[in-house]
Amino acid sequence: TWTMESFIESAVREIREKVGPEERVVCALSGGIDSTVTALLVHRAIGERLVPIFVNNGVLRKNEPEEVLELMGSLGLKVRYVDASQKFLERLRGVTDPEEKRRIIGHTFIEVFEEEARKIGNVRWLAQGTLYPDVIESVSFKGPSATIKTHHNVGGLPERMQLKLLEPLRELFKDEVREIARELGLPQKVVWRQPFPGPGLAIRILGEVTEERLAILREADAIVTEEMLESGWYYKVWQSFAVLVPVKTVGVMGDYRTYEYVVAIRCVESQDAMTADWVRLPYDLLARLSNRIINEVQGVNRVVYDISSKPPATIEWE
Ligand code: XMP
Repeated sequence: TWTMESFIESAVREIREKVGPEERVVCALSGGIDSTVTALLVHRAIGERLVPIFVNNGVLRKNEPEEVLELMGSLGLKVRYVDASQKFLERLRGVTDPEEKRRIIGHTFIEVFEEEARKIGNVRWLAQGTLYPDVIESVSFKGPSATIKTHHNVGGLPERMQLKLLEPLRELFKDEVREIARELGLPQKVVWRQPFPGPGLAIRILGEVTEERLAILREADAIVTEEMLESGWYYKVWQSFAVLVPVKTVGVMGDYRTYEYVVAIRCVESQDAMTADWVRLPYDLLARLSNRIINEVQGVNRVVYDISSKPPATIEWE
């Protein structure tokens, strides 16, 4: 019978058999469950000949790099941290089209990752957290979200660097990965972490991404996540986050007129992200979110709640 321990054992054995004694393996960490479990399995198999790389693309959430690095450290992974945020933000300057933002972030990611991997030497393999549904999707399935929005992985890199692929999770579904993650000792915060898009906050700031807008969205988003966790709602929904709508509206604070940005809160339930419904969050929670964002985040004087389902709206605003 198929148990988690036997899966881990056989996956580790297979990786050991594949990777030559002098060869090194790289992988890109995102802080999410798939890439973390992949890195842990490869690490078990070949130790420090696995070099996990974590790229700061400048559009991560508040404290995200610190939290990811701390988690990886606690799991015994020695991560190469590359802060490429300035490079990404420079290339995003003046860019307003959502697909163009995705392209820039995807290409820059590959470039930065490749440059880092080349420094390591003797790298022959790329480990990736591909799951079974991804395998199916890439050969036969082009669902609406695959054609409406392009989703970036480390595509193109294996060919360019002539790397062979290690995909220890390619026969698993998400719930099986979660069980393995628990078995490997990952904290519940990682096991049940909500999906976060590769292009990060860049597609949650409508139009141009600037440092000022990023700073505002980071604060607002941190409040949403904190309150969702605090109230227990974080684990009941598919995704919950803030979107910065860079449109200014009039408000009043004390004796003064204000003229500041709008933050939208998006919270959806879904099985597979193909369809989604907006979550009927309690009014008290919405009130707390609104009060906190308007009081604590400089530059925002209005909060709205997104009550659109998918289709016809998408989960992300871009
Ligand atoms: P949409 O907005 O198409 O999102 O309803 C469906 C799911 O995909 C995520 N998403 C992305 N993930 N790169 C990613 O890695 C992307 O460019 C991207 N766009 C959307 C979104 O967060 C949701 O879970």
